Amino acid sequence: MRLGDLLKKASKYLSERNVEDPSLEAGLLLSWLIKKDISYIYANPDIILDEENEKKYFSLVERRGRHEPYAYITGECGFLDYTFYVDPNVLIPRSDTELLAQGALYALGQDPKYFDQEMFRLKNKSTYRVLDIGTGSGCLAVSIAKGHDSVLVDAVDISENALNVAQKNAKRYGVENRITFIHADFLDKSIVLPGNYDLIVSNPPYIPLNEMPCLMESVRNYEPAVALAAGSDGLIFYREIAERTSSLLSKSGILLVECGYNQGQKVSEIFSDRGFSTLLLKDLSGINRVVAATTK
Ligand SMILES: C[S@@+](CC[C@H](N)C(=O)[O-])C[C@H]1O[C@@H](n2cnc3c(N)ncnc32)[C@H](O)[C@@H]1O
Repeated sequence: MRLGDLLKKASKYLSERNVEDPSLEAGLLLSWLIKKDISYIYANPDIILDEENEKKYFSLVERRGRHEPYAYITGECGFLDYTFYVDPNVLIPRSDTELLAQGALYALGQDPKYFDQEMFRLKNKSTYRVLDIGTGSGCLAVSIAKGHDSVLVDAVDISENALNVAQKNAKRYGVENRITFIHADFLDKSIVLPGNYDLIVSNPPYIPLNEMPCLMESVRNYEPAVALAAGSDGLIFYREIAERTSSLLSKSGILLVECGYNQGQKVSEIFSDRGFSTLLLKDLSGINRVVAATTK
């Protein structure tokens, strides 16, 4: 079949199944399969795709029609300047979380264009120790380690399968020797972590249990519930992090956590109630997305 006809057929199929932006999705899947730029496909609608690839293409389109996320179908997700391997064991890294990564890099002395808050910068040191709670794909641990040569990261997750994915990504970017992967339940108070971290980052699960059924089909049916659900009000991880931060963070260390679109003030209070100075960072839509906290 001609590329142009394939696109038309796939986009009609996806549109009938209520996939958002069906033409773009059809084009992206074809572009990924034949490893050509999407502009090449649009510019060459008369090129014929062989039968084997045509079959492969429609099996991808069928998966997308069942609302399986594009990132799980291709096994890839862009985050900052990197492409992370992802599979259904890990949350697909979100662009919101890039703000947290940028905040962490700022704290480590980079990317001054993002913020202007000297208090949330670490003093110069030869080695910085970082803790990533709920590392998932490792998008934060790996991009922080890649962004700064003198960083050592402890990356914790309750899911062994997620840690395997994170490890794969650390190897992909050559930082596996600077990340220690720790299989642990952070909510288990008997778990002892090394402590004295200069920087703690976390994008913990934060969806209240009663909101889980309202999530988009692609999230609800495909992404791991353990990466999303967080008790009745979605705040259990922040309370636990706040309770343990004074024993885990170094004296003038910095903590950065991502939160849900309507949780910024509450999360900030959880930390300020414990004597931390806090700062809310807004995402590109002006929503409070990241809470920074320090004892300085
Ligand atoms: C929202 S995802 C974040 C993943 C990744 N850091 C990111 O930003 O894309 C939360 C992660 O926390 C992990 N997690 C959930 N409960 C946990 C617990 N009790 N202890 C440690 N990790 C946990 C999940 O397996 C998941 O990988």
